[in-house]
Amino acid sequence: MTRRVAFVTGGGRGIGAATARRLAAAGVAVVVADRDLDAARAVAAAVDGLAVRVDVSRPDEVDAAVDEAVAWGGGLHFAYNNAGVPGVRAELGVYPDEVFWRVQRVNVGGVFACMRAELRHMLAAGGGSIVNAASGAGVGGVAGAGAYVASKHAVIGLTRTAAVEYASRGVRVNAVAPGLVRTAMVDGLEDFEAAHPIGRAATPEEVAEAVWWLLDGGSSFVTGAVVPVDGGLTAQIPGLS
Ligand SMILES: NC(=O)c1ccc[n+]([C@@H]2O[C@H](COP(=O)([O-])OP(=O)(O)OC[C@H]3O[C@@H](n4cnc5c(N)ncnc54)[C@H](O)[C@@H]3O)[C@@H](O)[C@H]2O)c1
Repeated sequence: MTRRVAFVTGGGRGIGAATARRLAAAGVAVVVADRDLDAARAVAAAVDGLAVRVDVSRPDEVDAAVDEAVAWGGGLHFAYNNAGVPGVRAELGVYPDEVFWRVQRVNVGGVFACMRAELRHMLAAGGGSIVNAASGAGVGGVAGAGAYVASKHAVIGLTRTAAVEYASRGVRVNAVAPGLVRTAMVDGLEDFEAAHPIGRAATPEEVAEAVWWLLDGGSSFVTGAVVPVDGGLTAQIPGLS
């Protein structure tokens, strides 16, 4: 059986690292891509995968990293475009320009550049499956997080567009939209856990499980979907729950 190969950005820690471990447990050969090469190496070593340094906001680096992944694995079947940054907490009236654009370059530009590189290889090979990291902040506003919210809405737009463009050519494209997940990114946001009807934040492993379902053949008729993994956060009518 030919081995299946996955490219995971932001795989050095948090949800990306949990997804790399989940994929490896399913027998997938995993390329752990991160701007933090030491972190990527630690995860890759544990899953017998390849570590690659990449800043996803740099399209040239993304192209090189995806090429390296394909050369190592002999193909590319799955991709989880997960690298992302939160920006700062500030209202839009005073939101700093440079942070706003940095968030767009990483969260939106990164997903765009990654999908473009991944699609090139997947189309040449006859198909593949891509999952992008959206967020509950991709389907509604969050006070103080304007740059992040804008970026995650854009990720959902890119996901739906790619799904429609490539559905007939064997590539499925979906997104996960987590609520709060216990990772370094959300240090200090513990108070927000109570807003989730389930009453707690997710573990990275719970998100990884949804990513794996979307990547693998079990979701063969699912494309263009934005799957909430948020303990009911975005299902509730605010104020009535
Ligand atoms: N943690 C949450 O509550 C939560 C909720 C919803 C969505 N998300 C999204 O899930 C994804 C992962 O979140 P996390 O909590 O695991 O984050 P994290 O901060 O724990 O890990 C992010 C990883 O991405 C890497 N990274 C950051 N910028 C990069 C860049 N430019 N190029 C390459 N790698 C880069 C970091 O080095 C790090 O290893 C993000 O897109 C985030 O927006 C997280």
